[in-house]
Amino acid sequence: MGTHSQFQTTVPPTPEALTVPFFDLRRQYRAIHDEIDRAIAGVLEQGIFVGEPYVSRFEHQFAAYVGADYCVGLSSGTSALELTLRALGVGSGDEVIVPVNTFIATAEAVLAVGATPVFADICDTSYNLDPDDVLGRLTARTKAIIVVDLYGQPADLDIVAGIAASRGLVMIEDACQAHGATFGDRRVGSISRATCFSFYPSKNLGAYGEGGAVTTNDAALADKLKLLRDHGSSSKYRHEAPGYNHRLHALQAAVLSIKLAHLDDWIDRRRRIAAQYDRLLAGSSVVTPQERPGRQHSYHLYVVRVAGRDSVQKRLAAAGVSTGIHYPIPLHLQPAMSSFDYAKGDFPRAEACASTILSLPIFPELRTYEVEYVAEQLMRSLGRSE
Ligand SMILES: Cc1ncc(COP(=O)(O)O)c(C=O)c1O
Repeated sequence: MGTHSQFQTTVPPTPEALTVPFFDLRRQYRAIHDEIDRAIAGVLEQGIFVGEPYVSRFEHQFAAYVGADYCVGLSSGTSALELTLRALGVGSGDEVIVPVNTFIATAEAVLAVGATPVFADICDTSYNLDPDDVLGRLTARTKAIIVVDLYGQPADLDIVAGIAASRGLVMIEDACQAHGATFGDRRVGSISRATCFSFYPSKNLGAYGEGGAVTTNDAALADKLKLLRDHGSSSKYRHEAPGYNHRLHALQAAVLSIKLAHLDDWIDRRRRIAAQYDRLLAGSSVVTPQERPGRQHSYHLYVVRVAGRDSVQKRLAAAGVSTGIHYPIPLHLQPAMSSFDYAKGDFPRAEACASTILSLPIFPELRTYEVEYVAEQLMRSLGRSE
């Protein structure tokens, strides 16, 4: 681990002048611009924008980082999920269990392959898929379970894997928010049959555009994904099956190779910020995130729960603090899912979370005084001194 001097600045502005962004990628770029500029110039000079050598180099590096045999670079986290479902034979007539609190892409991938997403409720302490609720949603048509490591904390991967194995189902892990998180002594990406990642710019490991990957120890699955991402092509202009254009771009792969070398430092810094928030908010009515034993949360998001969330969020905005909500509408209540006949009240824990959760600013370059300011303003915005 390196030092964190790049994350600190000297003189904090006066409180009146202070605004705290939810995240700010410019700070990250400023800290590593020499390396990034060199890498981008290298790609431009070589004039190679798709495939070798940049994509395969990053794939090897990322597979080694997570501890998997294979990594297949793709165009986004959404395409990683969709192609994985397709490669594993999930399609029309199949049901796929999906947590009801996740980014919509998890369910969209299921729809894209012609299968039906079946939602399951979440645990209200980890915000991840509740394995007990999964048991009640299984039917003869269930083919797969997508487990999401939401906010950067691994879900109950062992328990869900046990359910999947006992029913002959496929478990796919959506780790689009959990690069670098660990479960026991293993990194996310080395545990499930297929783990899907997003390199959307704001992720813990983000490209300068779209990107994604699947990691796996299954050679046949990796080969299938490589075919699917590139028009079903096994060699130039020979197409084994209809496929897609879902390739990772060389420029993005070159950027990701540079950033991967910083990822552990960045996660370490995120964890320190989370610990600082935990300390500053201790004893208040703010419910802080709970890291489950044996897991390392990578704190893509630091999500608290507060009563009167909407007015708290407004007061924070007035004090210059940007926050987020991940997510304000559970998937079963999204207009996009209205054909599935769910109703308000179907997923009480997810619904209770949706109205109380608030994501505070967290990114490696966030300064200590900014974290203090956010915590102080949050306490004030609760409407009483605690
Ligand atoms: C949990 C989850 N799944 C899937 C995705 C989709 O990834 P992408 O935006 O790269 O398609 C995201 C990205 O925000 C995500 O957070």
